[in-house]
Amino acid sequence: MIVVEHNNMCKMITIADPKGGDGRSVTAVNLAASLALLEKKTLLVDCDPRACATVFAGLDTSTLASDLGSVLFGEVAPSDAVQTTQLRFMDLLPASFNLFHAASRLALNAGNERILRIFLRELRTEYEYMIIDSPASYNFLTVTALAASDWLVAPFQCTSGSIGDFTSLLRMVRHVRSNFQARLKIAGLLFTQCSSREEIDRFIAESDLNGVEGLVYKGFVPRDDALMKAAEEGKPVALYDVESPGARAYLDVAKEVISSFN
Ligand SMILES: Nc1ncnc2c1ncn2[C@@H]1O[C@H](COP(=O)(O)OP(=O)(O)O)[C@@H](O)[C@H]1O
Ligand SMILES: [Mg+2]
Repeated sequence: MIVVEHNNMCKMITIADPKGGDGRSVTAVNLAASLALLEKKTLLVDCDPRACATVFAGLDTSTLASDLGSVLFGEVAPSDAVQTTQLRFMDLLPASFNLFHAASRLALNAGNERILRIFLRELRTEYEYMIIDSPASYNFLTVTALAASDWLVAPFQCTSGSIGDFTSLLRMVRHVRSNFQARLKIAGLLFTQCSSREEIDRFIAESDLNGVEGLVYKGFVPRDDALMKAAEEGKPVALYDVESPGARAYLDVAKEVISSFN
């Protein structure tokens, strides 16, 4: 794993890849939860109106008084929309379908993609990490999430389509950097739903991924039903079954993320 710059500031990391179902929301929740279990004060920000990260983290979107959409509408201060979670070191800025309405309005004016970065600024002093979940494909909220971040973690599967998706993700990083004065850089590629390290190494060797090996996290997330069941129960997997392969994998990846910033 590449060593990134020393930084005592809050590390703002978006989990993004253009494809749906690669495990972005599962990664956002479980990476945030694992950082929190390692006593890093972490804010999980749900920037997807589907609100999967919010639900996977245990909140009921139908009873939320406010969400990230309310913040973007300017109705509530970011700190007033933040919710506590089952983990002492993890808070959540939740999403609901309201976020879709906020994004639809904001998308009408060019430049509004910087709004999340501005709103999150006041929370940066409170947290060591912010993990932002983003929607599939490229839309206003994806760009907004990336423009708010300094770092990108991209979940990646050993499937042929992943290469094209990664190429388009690199283009999106360049777009965000040049259009929104963002410092966005790739923190790492996280292989998910894979069966072994050998499968990943073979995939990298056979794919046209020249120069990318150094960005791949040593840890990978196996396919593990515990991750799916924990999400269905609204729990980080470590609170569902701390001994499960999925829980161990995300804890290892969180350690790797922490050491990459030291
Ligand atoms: N490593 C994994 N093992 C088993 N199931 C997984 C794993 N990662 C994600 N899933 C399941 O795959 C589905 C899609 O995951 P999700 O994180 O919502 O994807 P995305 O946010 O990229 O669309 C969910 O049902 C989730 O529980
Ligand atoms: Mg998702």
